[in-house]
Parts: sequence; structure tokens; C-alpha cells
Amino acid sequence: MIKKVGVIGCGTMGAGIAQVVLEAGYVALVREIDSSLLDKGMTAIRKGLERSVEKGTLASSAKEEAFARLSGTLVLEDFNGCDLIIEAVFEDIQIKMELFKNLDRICSRETIFASNTSTLSITEMASATKRQERIIGLHFFNPVQVMRLVEVIKTITTHDEILQIAFDFAKSLKKVPILAKDNPGFIVNLLLTPYFMDAIRAVANGVASIQDIDTGMKLGCGYPMGPLMLADLIGLDILCKGANSMFDEYRDRRYAPPPLLVQMVRMGYLGKKVGKGFYDWSDQKNPIPLALNF
Ligand code: 3HC
Repeated sequence: MIKKVGVIGCGTMGAGIAQVVLEAGYVALVREIDSSLLDKGMTAIRKGLERSVEKGTLASSAKEEAFARLSGTLVLEDFNGCDLIIEAVFEDIQIKMELFKNLDRICSRETIFASNTSTLSITEMASATKRQERIIGLHFFNPVQVMRLVEVIKTITTHDEILQIAFDFAKSLKKVPILAKDNPGFIVNLLLTPYFMDAIRAVANGVASIQDIDTGMKLGCGYPMGPLMLADLIGLDILCKGANSMFDEYRDRRYAPPPLLVQMVRMGYLGKKVGKGFYDWSDQKNPIPLALNF
């Protein structure tokens, strides 16, 4: 039975995951690599809980109690009491494999390991441990507090019992779990990545303006936001890295990042988090499409 959940990495995704875990009543432990990032992550979780109170999804009296169930650490050894550990660190397979190798040594045989990766191989991560039957993907969507989906990813060695625990856990967070095999991109990014790449190619080819492409998909298909604004929300560096790793695996040009995306990442136009991507986010409530010179 899951009582204590470890979340490794307390950036946008890690903090969001920790918040929903706390709101569901679990004890949570988060880890960052230095104290300033840890403070930033813990503050984001506190603000997130306050936001839930504002939105009426969390009782005001429950906020402090939820925050009291959270602790933060810089030390990996502290994760030895966790029943489930979800990693949400930088999308780098070597970092993730090293992390799981160390956690495998630190944690009891019962602990379940999960990765929030969007496109990297869970199988490869499992290969770094001696608990290959207890490793899964738990892929949350951004913003975690709002998006209801969790992809549960199984490898060829994952036990059915672990999948059942993962499904029950996701439901306890008020999420809707779906099952996917460990193919890069799983279900959502398998379909979404070519869509993003096509939208960026359409910009590069001058098919239409940034605004009109986004308005087209928003009003024509009923999506909550267009692909270029969503790309800015996710982060163009994350998008580019994910597309590259899918391209490496499938060797299918639909996943190849177009030169415009690569150039924007090189230029530091990474999207909303830096204030500039396909839009200028100086006014976060009113992003202005960028005039790209190409
Ligand atoms: N705690 C903390 N933050 C919360 C929150 C809560 N309880 N509830 C909402 N928020 C945040 C949101 O992150 C957002 O932040 P911001 O305004 O500071 O940018 C804000 O509060 C708005 O939330 P709302 O509930 O008011 O939501 P809106 O009705 O404005 O809709 C949206 C915003 C949910 C982002 C909507 O436009 C949408 O659904 N967009 C599409 C999102 C999407 O497709 N996400 C998937 C991306 S793909 C992915 O994640 C996969 C990965 O592998 C790349």
C-alpha cells in the first residue's frame, strides 16, 4: 500500500506532481540538487496549494495540513522509506539511469520506481536496476494540477500487480490512467509530436501567421490552445529534445525537429518560461506573436 511518495526533481512537473500527491492525502518527499532549487520548488508547491484553495478544490483548513506532510531534501538516501518514487528530473537518459541505479541500492525491494519521462525508454532505466518488474512510467501532463490524464507505461518485465497499483494510485489523485507500451512517446506524444513539428514547419514555410495557425486549431478543432502557444507552454527545448529522441528511435522524419525549432532553441527562445518563444510573454495574460525574421 502506498503511503509515502518520493518525487525527485522539483521543477514544473515535479512540483505539480508533489502538489497533487499532497492533495490526495499522501506523505511526500521532494528532492532537488541544491538548496536554492529546493526552496523554489517548495515555494511553488505552497503557492499551488494556495491556488487550489482559491479555486475551491481544496479546503482552506486542508492547505496547512497538506503542506505539513511535505518535506524536502538534497540527500538521495532519505528516499529509503518511500513506497513509490517518481522521478521528474531533466530529460537525460544517463542521469535517469544513474539515479535509479543509486535508488536501487538505497531503497527496499518493495519500493516501486516510476519515471515521468515523455519520450525516453523506461526499459533502459529499468536495466540500470535489479527490480525490473517494479519499474513503470507515470507520465503526467502540464499543468499537472489541471490535466486529468496519466499515462501508465509498462515494459516487457513490469508485473501486472505493479500496474494495478499504478492505476489505483493515479485514480486516487483524481486522474484518469491509460495504459501504454514502452514505445517512445507512448500514446499522447506519439501523436502530438508530429502535430507540433508540422505546425512549426507551417510557420517556417510561411503557410500562415503564428496567430492564425493557433486560432485555426483552437476554433477549428476546439482545442484549448493552438500548437505554437502550447509549444511555448511546454518549452521549446523540451519539445526539441523529445522530438529528437523519438526521431532517433523511430528514424521517421515526421519526428525530426524542423530547423526553425532548432534555431529558436539555440537562440534561447525557449517559450513562456524565459519570456520568449513563438510569443513574447512580457505580459503573461496577453502574449504577442513574435515577428520572426527568416
Ligand atoms: N495549482 C497550481 N496551479 C494551478 C492550479 C492549481 N490547483 N490550477 C491551475 N493552475 C495554473 C495553471 O498552470 C495556469 O497557470 P498560469 O496562469 O500561471 O500560467 C493557471 O493556473 C490557469 O489555470 P486554469 O485552471 O485557470 O486553466 P485555464 O482555464 O486558464 O486553462 C490550460 C489553462 C489548462 C493550460 C488550458 O489552456 C489547456 O488545457 N491547455 C492545453 C494544455 C495541454 O495540452 N497540456 C498538455 C501538454 S503536453 C505534455 O504535458 C506532455 C509533456 O510530456 C510534454
